[in-house]
Amino acid sequence: MLLSQELVLPSGLRLPNRMSKAAMAEGLAATTHDPNQKIRKAYREWAKGGWGMILTGNVQVSDDYLGAPQDIDVPAQNTDELQAAWREWATECQASGTPTIVQLNHPGRQSPAGAGKKSFFTKNLAPSPIGLNFGPGILAKVASKVLFGTPKEMTVQDIKLVIDQFVEGAKRSYDAGFKGVELHAAHGYLLAQFHSPATNRRTDEFGGSAHKRVEISLRIIRRIRAVTSPNFSISIKFNSADAATDKTEDVLEQIRLLVDAGIDFLEISGGTYENPLMMGDDGVAKQDMSEDKPMKASTIKRESFFLEFAQTVRKSFPGLVLMVTGGFRTRTGMEGALQSGACDIVGVGRPAAVYPDFPTKIILNENVKDEDANANLPRIEVEGAEKWIVKISGVTALGAGKTTRVYQEHIGSMAAIKA
Ligand SMILES: Cc1cc2nc3c(=O)[nH]c(=O)nc-3n(C[C@H](O)[C@H](O)[C@H](O)COP(=O)(O)O)c2cc1C
Repeated sequence: MLLSQELVLPSGLRLPNRMSKAAMAEGLAATTHDPNQKIRKAYREWAKGGWGMILTGNVQVSDDYLGAPQDIDVPAQNTDELQAAWREWATECQASGTPTIVQLNHPGRQSPAGAGKKSFFTKNLAPSPIGLNFGPGILAKVASKVLFGTPKEMTVQDIKLVIDQFVEGAKRSYDAGFKGVELHAAHGYLLAQFHSPATNRRTDEFGGSAHKRVEISLRIIRRIRAVTSPNFSISIKFNSADAATDKTEDVLEQIRLLVDAGIDFLEISGGTYENPLMMGDDGVAKQDMSEDKPMKASTIKRESFFLEFAQTVRKSFPGLVLMVTGGFRTRTGMEGALQSGACDIVGVGRPAAVYPDFPTKIILNENVKDEDANANLPRIEVEGAEKWIVKISGVTALGAGKTTRVYQEHIGSMAAIKA
């Protein structure tokens, strides 16, 4: 079985198998935004689970702008105590030899009010002053205005500061003993906002062409390489070309530039707050699942939401290590994806929150028959008042928000410290 085989990345990092725990914001760092006891307890459980690689939940590189109020962040001022907590975190994640990568993020225009030190009146940052569009309804417009507002177009100075913040996050991860960092450039966050022409209308060195739109990520990668070592893994989580404005040839050119800059692997995902494709049909109110909404039959057959795009990338970049995340639930689905050559690593999110030991207990366990090797997760339904609000507001992100809440409760149970 390919799934259980070792994979050596170009950086030299050895993954004992091809199953990676995907990044999941833990929702547990409410007041201190550090890798606290509870968070480290959850990672001790994942460390025992037999994963080939662990990706942490997103760590915000600016403490002013968080993706959610409970995120871990990289405060401008480091302290010995904080760095010691990071070191302990890295040691605990890797206690059984599973390499662990810190996912670094900046939410850009997707930082809700109250998340981070920014004041209620401070605008979010984005490449261009384009607010989130949750749909035509008045409630959708109010939700986007009140929660996120219209972002400020970043100055070149703002961009340079954000680059420094990513580099600082990587340096602290490296010093703590993590094996690498992954830049979060998917799900509509700041780097994805730069990459896409739908949200980047700049005409300076950071916009105007596919190359210039990815320039911010290229600079971050080169600077991280300069302050770490050649065997420190630098990867990127990247959206498939899912916005109508994202041309496949532009996205492929951006990937070529990222490969030239020295990424170790590319993780493929998709979706944004406006259109949360990364959650599949979880959280989508049932009455909305008519005609165009239900998942394509081909997607159901091969499980993964983004495998088709991975195949397109594979054709242009046969040697690039590809990880695909989204929808994998069964051994046969994961093994099939690897055997097809579309990807080299399968990323697993929600099942990992329910079964921290999903690889050893189920998928890689030879005593479990193929037909039983399945996460069997129930679909998350949006019900009651919430369903009504989703329906009248048209804001599908609220459904995805419920999914996130449900799985963060699972992570919370893993993190409960037993006396
Ligand atoms: C609770 C929760 C938190 C998540 N947080 C992150 C995150 O911090 N960074 C990220 O890239 N994706 C995040 N995701 C998305 C997952 O990494 C993954 O792309 C998505 O859940 C689809 O994979 P799955 O079908 O295996 O769950 C999160 C998902 C969940 C359920």
